[in-house]
Parts: sequence; C-alpha cells; structure tokens
Amino acid sequence: MNNSTPTAIHRADYQPPGYTIETVHLEFELDASATRVRSAMQVRRRGASSDLVLNGSDLGVVAVRMDGRTLSASEYALEPAVEPDTLTIHSVPERACIEIETDINPASNTVLEGLYLSSGNYCTQCEAEGFRRITWYPDRPDVMARFTVKITADKSHCPVLLCNGNQTDSGDLEDGRHWVLWEDPWPKPSYLFALVAGDLAHINESFTTASGRVVDLAIYVEPHNIDKCDHAMASLRNAMRWDEQRFGLEYDLDRYMIVAVDDFNMGAMENKGLNVFNSRYVLANQATATDSDFLGIESVVAHEYFHNWTGNRVTCRDWFQLSLKEGLTVFRDQEFSADQHSRAVKRIEDVRVLRARQFPEDAGPMAHPVRPDSYIEINNFYTMTIYEKGAEVIRMMHTILGPERFRAGIDLYFERHDGQAVTCEDFVLCMEAASQVDLSQFRLWYSQSGTPRLEVHDHYDAEQQRYTLTVKQSLVPTREQPNPAPMHIPLSVSLLSRNGQPLPLATQHAATNATADEGEGEGDAVKVLHVTDAEQHIVFNDISARPVPSLLRGFTAPVILSYTYGLEDLAFLLTHETDSFNRWEAGQRLLTRVIENADDTHLIPAIDALGNVLVDSNIDSAYRAELLRLPTIEAIAEHHEVFDVDRLDASRQAVQRRIALALEEKFAAWTDNDSAFAVDTASIGRRTLANVALDYLARLDDWLPHLRLRFEQADNMTDQLASLRLLLDFDRDSGDEYLQAFYRRWRDQKLVIDKWFSIQATARMPDVTARVEALLAHDEFNLRNPNRVRSLLGAFSVGNPVAFHHVDGRGYRLLARQIVQLDDINPQVAARLTEPLTRWYRMNTERQQQMKLSLQLIAGKKSLSKDVFEVVNRALDR
Ligand code: TRP
Ligand code: ZN
Repeated sequence: MNNSTPTAIHRADYQPPGYTIETVHLEFELDASATRVRSAMQVRRRGASSDLVLNGSDLGVVAVRMDGRTLSASEYALEPAVEPDTLTIHSVPERACIEIETDINPASNTVLEGLYLSSGNYCTQCEAEGFRRITWYPDRPDVMARFTVKITADKSHCPVLLCNGNQTDSGDLEDGRHWVLWEDPWPKPSYLFALVAGDLAHINESFTTASGRVVDLAIYVEPHNIDKCDHAMASLRNAMRWDEQRFGLEYDLDRYMIVAVDDFNMGAMENKGLNVFNSRYVLANQATATDSDFLGIESVVAHEYFHNWTGNRVTCRDWFQLSLKEGLTVFRDQEFSADQHSRAVKRIEDVRVLRARQFPEDAGPMAHPVRPDSYIEINNFYTMTIYEKGAEVIRMMHTILGPERFRAGIDLYFERHDGQAVTCEDFVLCMEAASQVDLSQFRLWYSQSGTPRLEVHDHYDAEQQRYTLTVKQSLVPTREQPNPAPMHIPLSVSLLSRNGQPLPLATQHAATNATADEGEGEGDAVKVLHVTDAEQHIVFNDISARPVPSLLRGFTAPVILSYTYGLEDLAFLLTHETDSFNRWEAGQRLLTRVIENADDTHLIPAIDALGNVLVDSNIDSAYRAELLRLPTIEAIAEHHEVFDVDRLDASRQAVQRRIALALEEKFAAWTDNDSAFAVDTASIGRRTLANVALDYLARLDDWLPHLRLRFEQADNMTDQLASLRLLLDFDRDSGDEYLQAFYRRWRDQKLVIDKWFSIQATARMPDVTARVEALLAHDEFNLRNPNRVRSLLGAFSVGNPVAFHHVDGRGYRLLARQIVQLDDINPQVAARLTEPLTRWYRMNTERQQQMKLSLQLIAGKKSLSKDVFEVVNRALDR
C-alpha cells in the first residue's frame, strides 16, 4: 500500500538489467506463519554500474552475504530514491555469489501473490511481480536463471512437495520433516517460479511426444476432488497433441503438473512444468459442471500448456510486451478450441466476448494500446485488450500472410528467439522476414488504442456493370491520441447474388495502395481487401445485377463496421449468407433492429427468418442455437451513445415473448434430449439448443410445469442450472423453494455454491440489491475468496445491468462499499471489481452522478492501493 500518489512506469524508460542471475538455489523451510527462505544467486555484471538492484515487497529482516562474507549495513541500501521496495548492494564484482535470508508469513498473505495458503496448502503466484514477496531478487522477466529448489516441510501436513522441473533427490529428517530437491534445466524468469506443498491427491498418465519423450502428466487436487480431474487431463492430452501437429511444438520436460487451488486471483498460471490453476478451471464432472465450464477448462488448460513455448521458452523483455505472450497464446487456444469443436460457433463466441468486453474497454478510461506506453500497476493491465484484442492482432497477421507464411514466421520466431526475453517488435520482424510482407503500417495495431470504425457505402452502375465499395476508416481522437493515423485493416469481402451465390470477383482498384488477395480455398469469390487509407474505393467489374455485399466475413478485423442493410437484406442474409459468421451477424443486426423498434414491420420478417432457421436441416445444433439467441441489451447498446437499460430490457423481453408465441411449436421440437449425457460437440450442441429454446418458451405459462420437472430430474448441471434460471425469473413465487433445494443439494461443493450466489445476483427479481446485501452476510460468503467475490459482486455488477443500474444508485453504493473493504484484503481483485463503475459516461445524467459519487467514495478511502487508485482516478479524470 502506498501513502503517496503512485507514479507511472513508462515503456520508454526501459533499461537492460545491470546484472543477470545465472543460477539461483532456493531453500524453503515451510511454516504457516514463519517460512524461512534462503537464496543463493550467482550473479554476473552486464552493465557499467557495480550496484546490484534487487526487488522485494513486504519482506522481513534480511541477512546478506557476498561470496561468503556477511555484509554490513553500509554495504547495501534499502529503498534508495530510484525505486521503492528495492535493495541495492554496492561494489558487486563482475561475478559474485549473493546469499540472502528472509522470513515470510504465508498465513497472513491475503493478496494471493507470493507464497500463500489456500485451504491449508501452500502455493505461489508470481506473475507479474509476486516473486519479490518471496525473496529479494531482480524480479523482471528479462533476467532468466536456472533454478534449483530445496523444500523442507512437516511430512504429515505436507506429504507432497512440488516445484518446477524435475525432482532429483529427497529425504526424511528425524523430526517428522522431509525434503525434496527440484531442478529446472530451463532458464526462466522469476515470474514462472512455482512451489506447491500440502496434502494433495493426484491422477496421472503418461504421454509420449512426437519425438518419443515420455512425459508424466499429473493433476493434483484436494483428496475430495479426485473424481473431478478427468476432463482436465483429457484436455491436456489433446492440447499437447494439437500443438505438435499444428505448430510442430513438443513438450520439453519429463513432468507436467497441474495443481488446483480454491483461492486464486485469475484463471490459471503457466509456471514452468507446474501450472497452478483456479479450481474452477480444473474440477468438473457431469453433476457439478456446466457445458460452458467443460469448454472453459479445455481452453484454459490448453492456454497454459501453449504458454510453454509462447511465454516460457520465449518470454517478454518487460511487462509492456505482455501481449507478445498473451495475445499469441489466446490466438493459439482459440484455434485449438475451433479445431476441437465448431469453428463457426467458436468464432461467434470469441467475437461476442470481444465486443461485450474489449470494445467498451477500448472506448473507456482504461483504454490502452495492445503494447501499452505506461502503467501504474501492472496487474491492472491483464486486460481484454492485451488478451483478446492482442489475439485479433495475431489473427489479422494470419489472415494477411496466409497460413503457410504465418507458420514460417512462427518457426522463425522460435529459431531466432528460443531462450530469450523479447518484444512485440521482434515478433513482427519475424513475420516480415519469413513472408516478405511489409507490416510497417500494420504495427499501428500495437501502438494505437481504440476500436476503428469502418463506414462502408456502395454504388451500383447498371450500365457499366460496375459495383463500387467506398470504405472510410476512423478512430475517435482522445487526449492521449489526438491525431490517430489510418490503420492497415484486412477486410474480407464477397458479393452475393440475389439467390445467395457468391459472385466471382475481379477487382480494379481506384486507391493506389489497395490490394486484394484471394481468400483461402474459396476461389475468387472471396477477397481480402487491404484497407489502408482514410478513404478508399474498391471497384468490381462485370457485376450483372446489384449484389448484396458480405463484408468483414469471419470478422477479419476488430473494428466496428457500419453499412446500412435493409430489413429484407438482413432477413435474406440470415437465410442465405454463405459465411457462417456473417450469417449470424445478419441475424443479430436484424434482431437488434427489431428490439429497437418492436413493431410488426420489423417483427414479422424476423419471425419468418427465425422460423426458417428453426427448420433448416443443414445446420448443427450449436450453430442453430447461436442464430436463435437474442442479442443482449449491452450488445444492442453498442450502437447507442447512451445506454437506456430499462427501455432496452423491456423491449427485449417483449420481443422474446412475441417470438415465442409465434414459433412455439418449432421451438418445442428442439427441447427434447433423450440421448445419454456426454461431453462432446454434438451433445453440448443439443443441450445448448434445448436451453435456448426453453429460454423462449419459459415466457409462456404452459411451459412452467415442464421446467419444474426438468429442474428436478436433470442429470447434469447444464440443464439443472438453466431450468433454475428460468424458474427464478418466470415462476417467481416459488423462487426461494428452488433456491433452497439447490443449496441443500450442493452445499459442500464450493464451485456449485458459487453458481448459487451468481444466479441470485443476476436474477430478474424486484429488489435484487437487497438480496445481494443479504447474501453478503451469508455464512458462505467470504471476501477473501476471489471466486466467491466474483460470483456475487462481479455477477451482480456485470451480469445484472437492470438491477445494478437502479436509478437511485443503490447498486453502485453497494459495490463501492465492498470495494473499499476488499481493497485492504486483495487490491488486485478490488481493482477488477471497480471496472463497471468506470463506465458512467454511457449512462444518463442521473446515473452518471450516482456512479461518480460511488467512485469518489472509493477514491476517498485512506491508504488506497495503487491498483484501485489507478482505475478510479482514470475513471474520474475522463
Ligand atoms: N499468465 C496468466 C495467464 O494468462 C495470467 C495470470 C494468472 C495472472 N495469474 C495471474 C496475471 C496473477 C497477473 C496476476 O494464464
Ligand atoms: Zn496467458
């Protein structure tokens, strides 16, 4: 915690480390409240100065030795003016052995960074700057060292002692303690260090890599969770095989371990050879996990595994380069999931998340480029922009280069940089060198923030048989970015004839630097246009009738596209569009228009088109479900300056009921699911479709008995939770009975109780705020557990816009008071929880005032963390 105003760190100030660490040997004597940490570092000078600068945070008394000699207090300095929380050792020779002893207190660690206890077991979280809570060290990713670690602990309390790499030795001590020695052969930055100790059960199996290395895969959990590991294990195996096949990348150690812990700030962490996971991304079985939990586990397990190459073998030079590993690894996990299931549905889901969460971030006070220029607290920059927009930037390079040249670029990246800490620029240089494509203008995607707008107009000249697209791009200027430059935007296009056929295309470019490439495998009917100017004209010849343009197919760039389609065009596209993404997009645009103007002129064509979707025999269940889902009110509000929650919600509800009435029988046909439970693409698709159909039908009273039965008889969590959601919202008088039944059944399953909190926080009940307030006092609520905090407060503020934005500000005040309390416990999670309050400029003036009052209430807290300080001040400063 800082008392003074926190200061920003700037990318431009980067300096290479003065010393590197070649090897480090750590010894841990584990004890809940007094763990002794001894470190011995072989350091080597790299710069001119003989000062060795080490980072530390909340560390106890130190003893420092250099080459065996204990240093006196005058030979080192704590906290010099340069940087807070540093220990500077003076007159360090070119090579030296520095030994340091520290005492730390895992039991009192509530920030969940460094070494802490979760359910009585020891675990660590070091990214980004948690290692400095364990011992004094140059805690920056460009210092890569070989680690050996000896862990000593009480054998009955901690039978399992884990660390990165390979276990090389172990032994028992007389006093009931034992020890294990671990060696990680791969040099790594401190943020990838991990230690886990406790009473854990595990499952394991063996995996043989393409080149024949036998790897022991193991998943460690608390013993009562041992029946919930199989899905994570299967996901890991699939991810390992996929990375060999798609990218030629193999695993590089004899062991790969995953540990599940209940108290975790984020999703999971890619520590070398020893991933630590939030238990919600490991534990699952038919009874306790929903299909989206199963899919989330598969993608997070894969994500962390893929980091072994994109992140660990090649890491980041500094934290401004975070998207180098995160954007690339998200792109890889998205591709993996697309290959495991439906590529079309995966793309729709990813774009939905991008628009719902990244676009608002890019338009708000926390907006930053994919490669930020400055930050106050790095933990605040693990954002949708770094991850999801970062993945889109990689995907655009994939589109522009094509899969072969992209793969050549990736190969070159590993050839050049294996074992190094590098920059986003180094990555782009590899892509250019391997492809001979000039990405100079493309680089703006790394340095400019904001979502570009593409405004498209068209003109058809019947006499000349010529069709012209006019494309204008723009970025909203901001204080930090007053004169944004035009970007290089890949725009995939085809032209559809009136019977839905894509026309063969021959382009002739009016703008000099506009080029068009053929899309993959789609002959000359799809072109990737390179939009590079503020305004460009693209001319298509030999077009015999006015076509319907299919623009931004597959969502080839993270932009806001505006083109004014007629209602008939949208209904036509929802039936005939050949690009699965754009077919969905047309439906969403149509339904958005219907919700904005709920009259028969709009409703009737939409109902007809949805009726066709319901009976189209050429589409699978998962995709059909996507086409039928109504856009959320947030998605609709994306097109509005001000977000009128109540009006949009009322209209959306009314429209959904009208559609249900009109298409009841067709929806009913998809509600039966008598096949046996399985977690595969087809089964998940059937359940998803049934629950989307029931979401419509629940608005018709006749369907309530069916829903009750479904709730009571469901043999899986997906159907049980989906029917509980609908019963709570549409059979309100009995709501509490259902909730109690659910609670009694699941009271000792933490992850299911999280769902119980969430479903109430997101309910359509009259005074949800009062209910959330009451749940804060529930025995099972606990501010120290991030999952619980997110399940109640995160769900309320993000997942229940109508209640959160109550016009008298009660929702805002409730959240603000909890943020103030949480700030003393876990600033990282408190800062994330603050985000919904920062979007005040989207609301009407009454709500704006209330939101700002709540932000001020937080800003006024004594000794506010720099995490929350940064978010609140940016929001109030806008
Ligand atoms: N590198 C992690 C990932 O992408 C993210 C992460 C996990 C993290 N835990 C963290 C980031 C704690 C900051 C702080 O999978
Ligand atoms: Zn990651």
